[in-house]
Formats: sequence, structure tokens, C-alpha cells
Amino acid sequence: MQILVTGGAGYIRARVCVELLKKSYTVIIADNLSNSRIETVEKIKQLAGKDDVIFYKIDVTDASALKSIFLSHKVAAVIHLAGFKAIGESLEKPLKYYYNNTVSTMTLAEACIKYDVKKFVFSSSATVYGENKVPFVETMELRPAANPYGATKAMSERILSDVARANPGFSVSLLRYFNPVGAHESGLIGEAPKGVPNNLMPCLTRVARGKMEKLRVFGNDYPTVDGTGVRDYIHVVDLAEGHVAVLEKLAPGVHIYNLGTGKGTSVLELIRAFEEANKIKVPYEIVGRRPGDIAECYADVNKARRELGWKAKRGLLEMCRDAWNFEKNYRE
Ligand code: WQD
Repeated sequence: MQILVTGGAGYIRARVCVELLKKSYTVIIADNLSNSRIETVEKIKQLAGKDDVIFYKIDVTDASALKSIFLSHKVAAVIHLAGFKAIGESLEKPLKYYYNNTVSTMTLAEACIKYDVKKFVFSSSATVYGENKVPFVETMELRPAANPYGATKAMSERILSDVARANPGFSVSLLRYFNPVGAHESGLIGEAPKGVPNNLMPCLTRVARGKMEKLRVFGNDYPTVDGTGVRDYIHVVDLAEGHVAVLEKLAPGVHIYNLGTGKGTSVLELIRAFEEANKIKVPYEIVGRRPGDIAECYADVNKARRELGWKAKRGLLEMCRDAWNFEKNYRE
């Protein structure tokens, strides 16, 4: 069965592709390589021990490029993971995010309807909850996203929900990622954003490696356990396994799932976990809050466990060990 994965050469997406290949799916990757590397495609094959990967360097907003893929392959389902994901950058460049993240969703959904592909799995985000009461539950009313990135995810969820309602038999699964971290245990695939990273874990590993002098902790005056931001960090392998669990349970209609661990961890707690896991000191300094950040974000995980039989298995120390292992092995 052929699965089209957009953005498949990116960090999280690559891990999803490995899991799909291990389950004997054929994976078609469509990625414009704006924040990923072509070398990752070979690593995906190597880690899965499978060759059933077809790569297209295309932009998912390009309808004609998508058309050639749908005409060349019998796509059984699409997993739409391509999208820009840095909250801070989305505040500086909102139009880049609104265009890329929502137009790509619309273009891909149009292609699915045109070529009768009725299964659509979408990489959404916990940021759609906005500043809400934790733990975040799938049924809760969404608040305005604190940043354009989150707004594009909320818009894409609405677009896909309306498409499912207008097209009987169409199945949409909206996967609300919390904070994916870690790497494949081999150290071959991990988070290697181009340029200066936005997210905490890659900044942490770069400081540990001496590539950045110290970690900036964005604010310690939040109403949290120690004043620093609390997030639900989930191992990227757990997240990838969640995608396979969804793919195997797809049914018509709209289905929303939190992909998190259900545990909140503060920035300082993550630093301490990283130091304990890797026996290495991480110098840091407390600076001002980062615009667009919220205080706390972690998941209620009951629905995915109940309906998909999926739950995250890997803990914080394993996430920290795998992230550090990747950073040590990674060569620019
Ligand atoms: C985490 C915490 C920061 C960097 C991410 C992705 C987004 C989405 C949700 C999937 C916050 C603090 C960070 C640093 C810090 N993922 N921090 N110093 O903002 O929760 O969003 O997860 O959809 O794509 O961006 O993650 O790692 O940027 O921040 O103190 O150098 O770490 O303030 O409290 P965030 P993050």
C-alpha cells in the first residue's frame, strides 16, 4: 500500500517514514528540502532496511507537481507533515507561515478529492489549544492561538474538517503533537534544523557540544512549578508509532488525537534531566520571556490510548540520551 508523506525528509517525518516502511508500506516522500536534507532519505532506507521509498523534491503548494505524483502512483492515504514550525519565526514572518502551511493543506486536500484518495492524516499541534486549562483535551474549546504558527494549524484543522463534512467517506485524522524531541537510537536521524535552532532541545544539545556558549532560558516568571515554561516532551519514535496506529484505524469523518505523554516538564527540569542522563553540565542564563510563548502545555492522553491502543512509552532520560547521541554523531 502506497502512502504519500509530505515533508518526509524532515526530522519527525523521517521517523514516521521508517515506521511505515517497517510495517511494509511503500512510502512516497514529497519534500522541498527547505528545512531538511536529501541525505535523510538514504538514512530512512538504511534504518528501515527497506528500499520502498520514492522521493520527489516538490513544494506541496504546487498543484501540478502533486498531480504528477497522484497520476503516477496509487496513493492509499496521505500524511501531511510538511510545514514551517518555529513559533518565534512565525511571529516575525506571518505571511510565510499562513501561505505555506494553509495553502499546502488546501492544495493537497484538493488533490485527494480529485484523485479519490479518502484518507488524510494531518500533523497538527498542541498550539491550537492556545492559552487553555491544562491538561489539554481534544474536546475542549480552542482559544485563539498565541502565534501565527498555531493559527495556521487551527485553520488547517478547520479546512480539513469542512472537507470531510462535504465529502462523505473522507477520513481526516488531526494529530495534535506536543513537543517532539529525541532522535532515532542509532543517532542517524535527529533534529538538525538549518541555521540557529528555535526549539529547546536542539539549543540544549548545541550548548552541551560547545557550539553555543550558554542556553537562554526564556523567562522564569511564569505561574509554573519553577517559573519556567512547562511542556509535554514526547520521544519522536513514540510520535512516529502514533502515526502508524492512526493509519491502521482510519474511518470516515474527523478524528482528533493528542500525541503527548501527559506529563509536563519545565525548562529547568529538562536541563537537569539532560545533565543527569548524559553526565554533562549545561550552562544557562535566565533572560526575558519569548513573545508567543504560553506558560503550560501538556496533554490529556486518554483518547489515543482508548481508541488507538497507543501510548507514549519512552521517558525523559531516554529522550535526552537519544538527542545527545544524535548531536555527538551529527556532522554539519
Ligand atoms: C519549549 C520551551 C520556551 C528555546 C514547539 C514547536 C512547535 C510545536 C510545539 C509541534 C518554552 C523554552 C526554548 C530556548 C527556552 N511543535 N525555550 N530557550 O515553543 O513549545 O513549540 O512545540 O507542533 O512547532 O516550536 O517549543 O522547544 O521552542 O520551547 O527557554 O532556547 O522551552 O520558552 O517554554 P514550543 P520550544
